[in-house]
Amino acid sequence: MSTKTKTTTAYDEFVSYLEKIFAVSTDEVKVIIKDFHSEMQKGLSGFESSLKMLPSFTDRAKGIEKGKFIALDLGGTNFRVIAVDLDGKGGTTIVGVNKYVIDKQYMEGSGEQLFDFIANCIKGFMEGKNIPLDKKLELAFTFSFPVEQTNVAAGKLLTWTKGFTASGVVGEDIVVLLNEALRKIGIKNLKVAALVNDTVGTLVAKSYTEPSCDVGVILGTGTNACYPEKIINIRKWRGMPPKGNMIINMEWGNFDKLFVSPYDKDIDAASPNPGKHRLEKMVSGMFLGEILRVVVRDLIKRDLIFKDESATNLFSKNGSLKTENMSNIEADTSDNLGEVEAFISKHNVKNIDQNSKDLLKHVSKLVSKRSARLSAAAIASVVLWMDPELKNKHVIGIDGSLFEKYPGYKDMMEEVFIELFKTHAKNIVCEHARDGSGVGAAIIAAIAASTEG
Ligand code: BGC
Repeated sequence: MSTKTKTTTAYDEFVSYLEKIFAVSTDEVKVIIKDFHSEMQKGLSGFESSLKMLPSFTDRAKGIEKGKFIALDLGGTNFRVIAVDLDGKGGTTIVGVNKYVIDKQYMEGSGEQLFDFIANCIKGFMEGKNIPLDKKLELAFTFSFPVEQTNVAAGKLLTWTKGFTASGVVGEDIVVLLNEALRKIGIKNLKVAALVNDTVGTLVAKSYTEPSCDVGVILGTGTNACYPEKIINIRKWRGMPPKGNMIINMEWGNFDKLFVSPYDKDIDAASPNPGKHRLEKMVSGMFLGEILRVVVRDLIKRDLIFKDESATNLFSKNGSLKTENMSNIEADTSDNLGEVEAFISKHNVKNIDQNSKDLLKHVSKLVSKRSARLSAAAIASVVLWMDPELKNKHVIGIDGSLFEKYPGYKDMMEEVFIELFKTHAKNIVCEHARDGSGVGAAIIAAIAASTEG
């Protein structure tokens, strides 16, 4: 990059070093794909693997599922209650949505407090919609954490992610915890008909109207994917007869065969789940801002950016730079980078020189580009697993703010597909899949109800 201080070799050398450690070359992508396949194989066979490959007890939608459901969505800083109607012809209507912010005290307190809070939100929703509390209703519960399911409506939390640490939940059946909390406040007739990961909801919702959709991906606060696997290939499977397909929740955020930079090591060590979810910590919205922050903190220490005392304070504070700030900065194409100015001066940093602004944007791009290239490598792994010669069209249903809102994210992913597959890259079609957590979960509840009956 061309900057004023380019005369200093220390500066040049360090910027080149950053460019090198955040780059993911085409050859590296190919190695990642190979490692993904070996981890997938191990996970499906029940061997130790960073990819858990969790059976979801459901397959994709047929587009004929019908009924009225209340969907619950817990997976980030909000909890949502959604009333969904499915018309049986591919049509869905969201009849009502309530959104509740989950305070840190619930994310980090006891599981009992968290589930009591959720139960009270459900009660508030029902009262607000004049639904009698004793009415029999089916719930579809999207719970976006790694869950080892024992059937379509039961499963134990394997580990928390995305900053949740609520005690007494890991190892417990999520549906039992919810039922207990509902009983405590006198709600007895709500039945959880489906417990669903958000990726599975996304795939099922998209495939309700788009039959060639065969991968569901989340690129948001966290990251993960799922795809339909032949039951016969799920070697660890001890359930139904091995015919047909079942969607596998890969929990790819935990993939760990990756080159990690010293900054990634810092982020991992400071997280509530060190050693886990290494890919997620390099890719997802919860962490990109933090990665950029620790790089800038280092640049300040080396006297290569923002020569102002207050900048040191700003970039030393955990969480002071959000992925959203990066997104705004990268979207700013003006020469004087007003967005950087706005962000920095909001925190009372003075003496903002142009060179520092350019460097911040440059490093931001290195971090977001690495995220997009790793996401593309992971998507390519799943598609090649299903279709090694990429003969067919695969629609990838993707939800989450990184994919939806981050400037250039989709283009950066598609560049990788072109590098790998040349003209065949057109067989991988990334499309936004809206609200799998509500609609998708309701469809799965309907599938479950139809197979039960
Ligand atoms: C969780 C996954 C989830 C993903 C996206 C990850 O942290 O482990 O279960 O699908 O976030 O929400």
